Amino acid sequence: MRAVICREWGEPSVLKLEDVAPPTAGPGEILLDVKSASVNFADIVMTEGNYQTKPDFPFAPGLEAAGTVAALGEGVRDFAVGDRVLAKLAYGGFAEQAAARVQDTYRVPDGMPWDVAGAFYVGYVSSHVALRWQGEVQAGQTVLVLGASGGTGLTAVEISKAMGATVIAGAGSADKLAVAAAHGADYGINYRDEDLKARVNELTGGEGVDVVFDPVAGDLFDPALSSLGWGGRYLIFGFVGGTPKIPANRLLVKHRSAMGCSLRYFTERAPDKLAISMDELFKMYDDGKLKPLISATYPLEQAVEAMEMLRQRKATGRVVVTVS
Ligand SMILES: NC(=O)c1ccc[n+]([C@@H]2O[C@H](COP(=O)([O-])OP(=O)(O)OC[C@H]3O[C@@H](n4cnc5c(N)ncnc54)[C@H](OP(=O)(O)O)[C@@H]3O)[C@@H](O)[C@H]2O)c1
Repeated sequence: MRAVICREWGEPSVLKLEDVAPPTAGPGEILLDVKSASVNFADIVMTEGNYQTKPDFPFAPGLEAAGTVAALGEGVRDFAVGDRVLAKLAYGGFAEQAAARVQDTYRVPDGMPWDVAGAFYVGYVSSHVALRWQGEVQAGQTVLVLGASGGTGLTAVEISKAMGATVIAGAGSADKLAVAAAHGADYGINYRDEDLKARVNELTGGEGVDVVFDPVAGDLFDPALSSLGWGGRYLIFGFVGGTPKIPANRLLVKHRSAMGCSLRYFTERAPDKLAISMDELFKMYDDGKLKPLISATYPLEQAVEAMEMLRQRKATGRVVVTVS
């Protein structure tokens, strides 16, 4: 099969399209004929060798994919060859075939196109579990979402809105804020030009927000933490802008919490909560409350260009790699 292979750590340009032996479906696994896979920032970090898992060389990056079931590993009964599925992968999505654990595999809802299916899991599920179980977002509360037009930021905007919250989007340009507004954000702050803390204060009448969803951190962490009101929850989600230190006094002073949010916790340690999140998300999708944005699509041969879109901060929503 053809796959986009990593044989050394580095920028996406180290990846090369190669013919390699396909994976096999081990016990409890499903082999997919991949139709689409989406790019996540973590694919870039994994290719650099800086991700929490470091696969052995050679490997193909790609944390999620959708396709048809090609083969079932020992003990797999809930799926049949030919089923349309989407799956969270350890890696390996940028390839013609990929293997997924059965517990990370879901039937594609009727009517969901391949590009959306391949881009559904990581963005929507990781945002949902963070907002639902850590953030405990309730209707009527206010959520500040940073990186609000990005892969996980935009899904957080949509989900917060569907949960009945008021959403303040933070992004780095007027165009990106327009994307967030089109997906439900009530207010927008361009944090490259505007004072984040002052604008949140203005928008919330000095009260601050109930929840911050932060996939960016870096220099934004400090003003975003100051934007959190009494009893607020800071969702520590990602570090594309750098990893901050948390000043404990600023948590105590307003009875705030800063909470790590890891999708992996839910897949490995809280499958009951994950199952509820999946049901709620598929219902939101069926009810038309989620409008997945696929802003660019590249064939497998151009997976490096697809990854560069994210690395160069040019992407909005999801960038998808298609496999013909
Ligand atoms: N905790 C979890 O379970 C979980 C799950 C999935 C992803 N993540 C993490 O969440 C983070 C975001 O992932 P993603 O796939 O949403 O990324 P993405 O689509 O590239 O979005 C990231 C956003 O961050 C902003 N940004 C600020 N500084 C940036 C920089 N130096 N480089 C690139 N973007 C920058 C960009 O928007 P502006 O230009 O508007 O600032 C961009 O839209 C990553 O750290 C990822 O590992 C965590």
